[in-house]
Amino acid sequence: MTGWRGWSVRRQDALLTALVVVIGVADTWIKPSNGLLTGQPTAVAAVTSGLVGSVLWWRRRSPGVVAAVIMVGYVITFTPVALAVAMYTVGEAYRRIRTLVRFGVAGCAAGVLVLWAGPPDWDLRAAAFTLAFILGPLVVGYAVAIRRDLAIEAQATIDAMERERHLLVERAQVGERARIARELHDVVAHRVGNIVLTAGALKVGPEARGAPAVARAAELIRDEGHQALEELREVLGVLTPGRRGRQNRPAATAPQPDASQLDKLVERSARFGRPATLRIDGHPETLPAPVQRAIHRIVQEGLTNAAKHAPGASVGVVVECRVDGVEVQVTNGHPAGGDRYVDAPPLPPSGGNGLIGLAERVALLDGKITAGPYDGGYRIDAFIPHRPAAP
Ligand SMILES: Nc1ncnc2c1ncn2[C@@H]1O[C@H](COP(=O)(O)OP(=O)(O)OP(=O)(O)O)[C@@H](O)[C@H]1O
Ligand SMILES: [Mg+2]
Repeated sequence: MTGWRGWSVRRQDALLTALVVVIGVADTWIKPSNGLLTGQPTAVAAVTSGLVGSVLWWRRRSPGVVAAVIMVGYVITFTPVALAVAMYTVGEAYRRIRTLVRFGVAGCAAGVLVLWAGPPDWDLRAAAFTLAFILGPLVVGYAVAIRRDLAIEAQATIDAMERERHLLVERAQVGERARIARELHDVVAHRVGNIVLTAGALKVGPEARGAPAVARAAELIRDEGHQALEELREVLGVLTPGRRGRQNRPAATAPQPDASQLDKLVERSARFGRPATLRIDGHPETLPAPVQRAIHRIVQEGLTNAAKHAPGASVGVVVECRVDGVEVQVTNGHPAGGDRYVDAPPLPPSGGNGLIGLAERVALLDGKITAGPYDGGYRIDAFIPHRPAAP
């Protein structure tokens, strides 16, 4: 614990005690009254004064006992400064008025005793001054303590209000997330559902009879749409916790994609006629879950972008676990048949969100990502450092 100008409380107390001892000893030589020791050899009174002052060292641990001992010492050798400090400490330490009154009365009694034991030249003014020097510090100590209590209470109220505000903001965010999730569902699920149904009908319809390529393509479209609906449902489950499904079961939480599914991603790309190579150095499946998720999303977006923006180009995926982090590269070559074929099917809608999303994801993990033309094709290059484990 530190206090005045960064001094520890022990150092402050040591200084205060030493000061009171010095004042008590010096005071003994110059003042005519030394309590019950008035008239005794000054050296004896001085040593006693010093001893009384030194008791203040324990004032924080046992303020009441220290005050009682110093009151006795005060009567014996008149040590007003030590008593003032002891009374201040009592005022600061106790909150019960009855206790404070008891100490006040005992202090005044000690003051009267000292006046009685000292030289008989005191008058009412001197007596009032003596008692004020005893009661004043008691009142000041009490006021300081009350002020400190009020400040602590005010701080506690501010903290509670701050916590409440956080809770309200959090609740509003949860509500907003749920609203967006429902919106997402209404917009996407209906149309993807139509695609799945149409593809299913196409697969078993007359168009596919005797045309295995058409049947295969229809099946792929149906599977992919089905998968998209599943993932959408799972993401909705995360966004709207507590929401219950049709069978009144809690919505499932999304199984998070990880680095162990990279080969599946590449395989699926090949099923759609977009083969890619995958090289994994090290064991990315042992990395923290958020890093694995980021790797998965980078490869997924890279494969999708290559298929979309560079159809027919060769694609290579490299995941390299290094000492300082993991590097992920998705590189595609030049699109086959020029930048785009003349009779190429129209591009799926482009939101321009894919790379932005990846950049945000990687930045959250303190990583870096670059994406741009590379050797006639395109490359996404991301690096995510290992972070020291949270303490
Ligand atoms: N492999 C690539 N080859 C050529 N251009 C690319 C490639 N990947 C990305 N780009 C360019 O970068 C742009 C941004 O890509 P980004 O993935 O952010 O958006 P998008 O793919 O167009 O849409 P979406 O939001 O669906 O991902 C693309 O519009 C495209 O011009
Ligand atoms: Mg994209």
